Amino acid sequence: MEVVAKEPNKEEVHPEREETTEALMNEKRLFRPLPELVVNANINPNDYENAVRKGKTDLEGFWEEAAMELDWFRKWDKVLDRSDAPFYKWFVNGKTNIAYNALDRHVKTHRKNKVAIIFESEAGQRTRMTYYDLYRASNMVANALTSLGVRKGDRVAIYLPNIPHIAICMLACAKLGAVHSVVYAGFSAIALRDRVNDAQAKVIITVDGFHRNGKVIKLKEVVDEAMLDCPTVETVIVAKWADIPVDMSDGRYVWYEDLMEGESKSFETVSMDAEDPLFILYTSGTTGKPKGILHTHGGYQVGINRTLKWVFDIKETDIFWCSADPGWITGHSYIVYGPLIAGTTTVMYEGHPLYPTPDRMWQIIAKYGVTILYTAPTTIRMLMRFGAHYPKKYDLSTLRLLGSVGEPINPEAWIWYYENVGNHNCPIMDTWWQTETGMFMITPVPSNVLKPGSAYKPFPGVQADVVDAKGNPVPTGKGGFLVIKEPWPAMARNIYKEPERYKEVYWSKMPGVYLTGDMATKDEDGYFWLQGRSDDVLNIAGHRIGTAEIESALVSHKWVAEAACIGVPDKIRGEIAKIFVILKEGVEEDEDILVNELKAHIRKKMGPLVIVKSISFQDKLPKTRSGKIMRRVLKAEELGLKVGDLSTLDN
Ligand code: WTA
Repeated sequence: MEVVAKEPNKEEVHPEREETTEALMNEKRLFRPLPELVVNANINPNDYENAVRKGKTDLEGFWEEAAMELDWFRKWDKVLDRSDAPFYKWFVNGKTNIAYNALDRHVKTHRKNKVAIIFESEAGQRTRMTYYDLYRASNMVANALTSLGVRKGDRVAIYLPNIPHIAICMLACAKLGAVHSVVYAGFSAIALRDRVNDAQAKVIITVDGFHRNGKVIKLKEVVDEAMLDCPTVETVIVAKWADIPVDMSDGRYVWYEDLMEGESKSFETVSMDAEDPLFILYTSGTTGKPKGILHTHGGYQVGINRTLKWVFDIKETDIFWCSADPGWITGHSYIVYGPLIAGTTTVMYEGHPLYPTPDRMWQIIAKYGVTILYTAPTTIRMLMRFGAHYPKKYDLSTLRLLGSVGEPINPEAWIWYYENVGNHNCPIMDTWWQTETGMFMITPVPSNVLKPGSAYKPFPGVQADVVDAKGNPVPTGKGGFLVIKEPWPAMARNIYKEPERYKEVYWSKMPGVYLTGDMATKDEDGYFWLQGRSDDVLNIAGHRIGTAEIESALVSHKWVAEAACIGVPDKIRGEIAKIFVILKEGVEEDEDILVNELKAHIRKKMGPLVIVKSISFQDKLPKTRSGKIMRRVLKAEELGLKVGDLSTLDN
């Protein structure tokens, strides 16, 4: 049966954003790049036009050229195999290993002694690792994992903060062909447990604790709780980091440092098929169960290398700082793999951007001479609040490019970032992409003319459009569904163990195209303006969180009969959760107690990512006749908007 996506209904999807978009598009503000940036760019305007053309007329040729920049143990027979669509295969029969491209090949060149990672701890200590250091460290971990019985295809869960160990361990897994599943260190024990069990991980790698906002987060204790119910895990490797006492009495726990003792520093990187899995990364969907997005060795490396080099114009002398966390796709692609493949220097910061004062980020840029800063609108808005005198105190003149990701950037934040951080010299690369796309999809390159609030146009070799529910392009200036019409090399290959769900969620609602789940508008110049999700997924401070996950966390509480969650606008975080609850009969606690208890419960179930604006208690929730909660009715009431079509409403 063909499932037709819901018609984009103005009343349903972010009406407040549609208005802003319209106003912005009408402002027609243009930002032109500085001439020297254009002249020296990795991709000049002429080449860019040619690349766009080639991406359209010879998609495979375009990506094949990009693949040639990397090392392969065996060349592919075919660039793209469409025969089992939507399970596309890229670089068929090619043999490679992403870690070989990120490390091994560099240690044979002048890059051997170049700084690969600059690490800054929250306490302000710096550590520098060269490509050779990182190569040897990851070889040692690859050997240690092998001696623990980890083999090609086995899953290793990595539950680490933003410290060099995380890059070392990801690369070590890649080297031996194990599939890593990084779980963001802010996730709760329950979220960790569910992800570990879904992937049937054999090993978990973690730390005793780490520093965040002046506190020590006892990460090992969270693992202890998860481990009560992780039957597939044979070993938990614990790195010493915060130097806090931890209980190692369980026979499955080993110290990272003990494992490394006497371990060989050489390891022969395993030759992987281009389509062999590299990692699983879980992301929220519209059901209670997160999706294990699966990426592979071959196409992924091609996509992230080409996009990073062109969009952030990576040069040998750059110091690149992506301030995301490696626990998200942004960190996978553009803190760890992308920058290392490109042979640049990547910055990692353990701590909080406001710790100990709101100038921490500017301090780090000045301290290391960062040339490219890639961050999120929510971070910019948070720092903006403290005023421009903070960035003004520092010499930020080394910066030459800025980037933004995670949600639509509002023009105030864009302008503030451009003026106060970039000092009017640095174009802002607003990059639209997803866990599933693996790489930037809609993004400018530095030579393009920018409009604040627009992510520009599809990257060369990416075919995107805005369409209605039947898949027909919508007229200029009208909102619709953002779709990708042709495969691209860094695309997700599957949802781990759920191929039917992969087809259903992304490829069936509109046959033949990839449905992103985002709404967008194209203007008369072909610029794309993103407007947020079209599904029941919230974007809280750039983090995707399914309303269904929050609701199922709530109904697992003994007091809760039913729950509904909607996103409401928030000045700093973009969107936060508002929750409606029907209590079970006989629950008669005070409202304050109820609210505090349920907030604590969500935190316990999901971790601190879910920011709750309020919880209100109801006797009824608006539902369709088939019993589905109509969140848009709640949202319309909450935001004082028109409710729209109520013909399916039951009560
Ligand atoms: C949103 C993060 C507007 C979008 C890389 C997408 C954006 C979701 C942008 C993916 C942007 C990301 N402008 N919206 N520049 N970048 N998004 O999987 O809704 O964590 O679908 O990947 O974030 O979030 P994810």
